[in-house]
Amino acid sequence: MGRIRVLSDAVANKIAAGEVVERPASVVKELLENSLDAGATELRIDVESGGRRLIRVADNGSGMLRDDALLAFERHATSKLSDVRDLLAISTLGFRGEALPSIGSVSRLALETRSDEESTGTRIEIAGGRLLSCDEFPSARGTVITVRDLFFNVPARKKFLRSEQTELAHIASLVTHYSLAHPDKSFELCHGANELLDVTPVAEIRDRVYQVFGASVLDELIDLGMIERELNVAEPEEMASRVFALRGFISGPQVQKLNRNSIYLFVNGRLIRDRLLMHALSSAYHNLMPPSCYPFALLFLDCDAEEVDVNVHPSKTEVRFRHGTFVHDFVRDSIRDRLMQARPVSNLSPEWRPQPAADLPFSDFTQRIENQRFEPIPDAAATAERFEDLPAFTLHASSGPAPRLDFSGEPIPVAAALPPPAATRMPVPDTHGPLPPGAAAASAVQSLAALPDLRPLGQIHDSFIVAAGRDGLWIIDQHVAHERILFEKVLKQMADGRVEKQQLLMPLLLELSPAQQIEYARIAGELEHAGFETEPFGTRTIAVKAAPADASLADIERIIREILEVAENELRRASVQDLRRGMAASIACRAAIKVNMRLEPAKIEWLLQALARTEYPMSCPHGRPIALRYTTHDILRSFHRI
Ligand SMILES: Nc1ncnc2c1ncn2[C@@H]1O[C@H](COP(=O)(O)OP(=O)(O)OP(=O)(O)O)[C@@H](O)[C@H]1O
Ligand SMILES: [Mg+2]
Repeated sequence: MGRIRVLSDAVANKIAAGEVVERPASVVKELLENSLDAGATELRIDVESGGRRLIRVADNGSGMLRDDALLAFERHATSKLSDVRDLLAISTLGFRGEALPSIGSVSRLALETRSDEESTGTRIEIAGGRLLSCDEFPSARGTVITVRDLFFNVPARKKFLRSEQTELAHIASLVTHYSLAHPDKSFELCHGANELLDVTPVAEIRDRVYQVFGASVLDELIDLGMIERELNVAEPEEMASRVFALRGFISGPQVQKLNRNSIYLFVNGRLIRDRLLMHALSSAYHNLMPPSCYPFALLFLDCDAEEVDVNVHPSKTEVRFRHGTFVHDFVRDSIRDRLMQARPVSNLSPEWRPQPAADLPFSDFTQRIENQRFEPIPDAAATAERFEDLPAFTLHASSGPAPRLDFSGEPIPVAAALPPPAATRMPVPDTHGPLPPGAAAASAVQSLAALPDLRPLGQIHDSFIVAAGRDGLWIIDQHVAHERILFEKVLKQMADGRVEKQQLLMPLLLELSPAQQIEYARIAGELEHAGFETEPFGTRTIAVKAAPADASLADIERIIREILEVAENELRRASVQDLRRGMAASIACRAAIKVNMRLEPAKIEWLLQALARTEYPMSCPHGRPIALRYTTHDILRSFHRI
């Protein structure tokens, strides 16, 4: 007798559950997606014990007919696809017909549902994949699915669950994500008797961001608006035009997260994790933020369903784009352009420092999760952990400047060092009363306007330029300021194809490692473009005959090695644009004025003027801030004048 057998449905469902149902949040995801596909506008999620004991999702969607309700638990039973061509253009969140049978095979599940077409509803009970009952049941239109004792029959899987707090944080994050994608719907999330999220329908995503994250986070974000780009594609019969649209919110480079948890990506309304989009996003911040930091981003990319294959992962959290390069560059360029327009400045605020990723953005929301009472759970190891191990789907703190105070009261003259425009004659009471409460964040863009008329006062430690501006006191790092100036200059010269060069009297010979040799062969043309005239000189040696004018002789070797290293490490798959930015950054960093260098007043003046003329004077190509500002607000507050 042969050895190969066809597995029973029960076993097949359990195997599928292994992929689809990783943790309580995966159940919430599948149930929420079903509710959204059913056209629900009100979604309520109840969980107990971090979702281990109970998950209930109730919706006011279309509901199911009795026969359909039974069928829904069959493997590969779906109302969303009927033939193979549908797979090419999936417009619903679900399509595999796997979620309900999978969840039903690893829990005790009850479904209550009624469609408009039937006068009584249906209640079905399933435990560990076995149908226990199917009865008539009086219910309102819509569907309520209750999942109890997740993994009760899969002890191995249960062991992998983390603490209740962590599982709850995953769920909270997930529900929040979906609420952001559907501002026109109401979402309610309760953990036992505690309400964690309750948002009513609003007209705009902006309003939903406000509901979820609060005013201070919203203030720090840059609205992308609606950006569209068209792609002409050759279809078998005709040329077709495809429109890609990007909307959402991003933070300026001053908000630096230590992990990716504040990045929310949606493609056609589907929450996904995607390397291509992540790469596009980080390229947009390239040279504006240190490489190990991440921004806050809430991005919605919409395109024709045919442009994206969603059938590439069992839990439907990954997608594949038909025109990946186009999508990548569209997202990168759109975000970068908006960042360039916004150009925020760092405020020197005593309390400011990048916050660890463990702080959630809407602190009261965090508090609400942390305040939950958690019962002891058997696996002790899991109870020890806290928020540190939160996964990609989590919400995290913004780390912008600390909140600052509003002004009110009578005007008094401020320090003579400050130039006189009306804005600086801040209205303050002439009494030293207690500090009033308040939290108006400074307008970042306004402050940038002060840059061209800064009045230099001197240098601290021969390294930092101190200057008076109409909006306060500025401290500028001379090295990074010059680095930014040179970076943009070199980049521009490269773009125009006319980099200023210096011919070397004697060619400089550089020996390369095999890996460097390979990189050299790959980017020799680009090196030339950046102003380095080089040629192979025997095995694994190159001769450098000319170099960019700004680089000193002593630095040329280091710059070339750095470029080769960068090319090897991070830019192998990056675009020519990224490579050029990397080269320009290396040249600028080496050639820039160093710290511990006394500067003549004229030189300081020149540096400030040149900085004001740069496109992005706020951070160096490696993402460090260039200027810190102690605002007049802060000065007044520190002297207890407001
Ligand atoms: N909340 C709901 N309201 C109305 N119908 C539902 C609901 N949940 C499930 N259904 C019906 O049950 C079917 C099976 O659901 P299930 O989640 O198993 O598969 P799917 O959503 O079609 O695909 P996927 O496995 O990708 O989620 C759905 O196609 C839908 O017709
Ligand atoms: Mg589904």
